[in-house]
Amino acid sequence: MTRPRIICHMHMSLDGKIVGDYLPTDVGMASQREFYALAYGPERHYRGHRGWLSGRITTEDNFTHYREPALNEAAATVPDGDYIAVPDSTMNYFSIDPSGQLGWEKNSIDYFDTNAHVVEILSGRASNAYKDLLRRLGISYLIAGDDSLDLELAVEKIAENFGGEELMLGGGGGVNWSFIRAGLCDEVSIVLTPAADGAKGAQTLFEADDRYSAAVPTEFDLQDAQKLDDGSLWLRYTVKGPIS
Ligand SMILES: NC(=O)c1ccc[n+]([C@@H]2O[C@H](COP(=O)([O-])OP(=O)(O)OC[C@H]3O[C@@H](n4cnc5c(N)ncnc54)[C@H](OP(=O)(O)O)[C@@H]3O)[C@@H](O)[C@H]2O)c1
Repeated sequence: MTRPRIICHMHMSLDGKIVGDYLPTDVGMASQREFYALAYGPERHYRGHRGWLSGRITTEDNFTHYREPALNEAAATVPDGDYIAVPDSTMNYFSIDPSGQLGWEKNSIDYFDTNAHVVEILSGRASNAYKDLLRRLGISYLIAGDDSLDLELAVEKIAENFGGEELMLGGGGGVNWSFIRAGLCDEVSIVLTPAADGAKGAQTLFEADDRYSAAVPTEFDLQDAQKLDDGSLWLRYTVKGPIS
């Protein structure tokens, strides 16, 4: 199996945060529209992908809002392996959720003008009842790894089942850093919003998580810098790797 080219595409404040009170302001929203247009708009720059991949916390914060999944513990045993509910979906939201915790109620999400089919990326820890729920909702799932996620297998399965020579990596900071540390990120694309809120402790672009990744000095190579119409700066880097 071959993996797609992986582009970490994120918007970020001037103080390096990816969440915060700057986001719903006029300046924050204008920058998010530029960010959206580059990857998902009709005239988008990144045209070779069929969706983006995000971590569990990102999905909770934006789509499932920490709801409990409505499980049927008495469900019949589902067939082994992956489940593809919508094989020809043109845009997909690949949702990292190793143990099957997300309280989905439908099989698509809306992001600005884009409707994307939900594809859960599970490990072997996800229960039969959770997979039954996904099947009932028409949500696809791919199983990559036993106790923890095998990220390389996950992206290979995404390419094999949903196509696309590119895959957008859409945060948050924890998942981004794991992909970089695993050598699974080819490009970092940042839309730098001309705003900051100075909040302490807010999520940054990359966050090592002891359970999944280590904090290691890492070098990036600037490929391009462009000023966007709203005053945001679009920065594109390749990942060089750990600095020795
Ligand atoms: N500005 C932007 O462009 C942008 C984009 C996306 C997200 N965000 C924001 O970023 C925030 C969330 O970021 P986050 O860093 O806290 O969380 P995250 O990266 O969204 O999710 C982290 C979770 O993913 C799961 N996971 C499974 N395997 C993993 C692995 N190998 N490495 C890392 N995580 C793995 C873990 O869930 P389990 O605990 O279930 O194991 C982990 O807790 C949200 O508030 C969101 O709105 C901003």
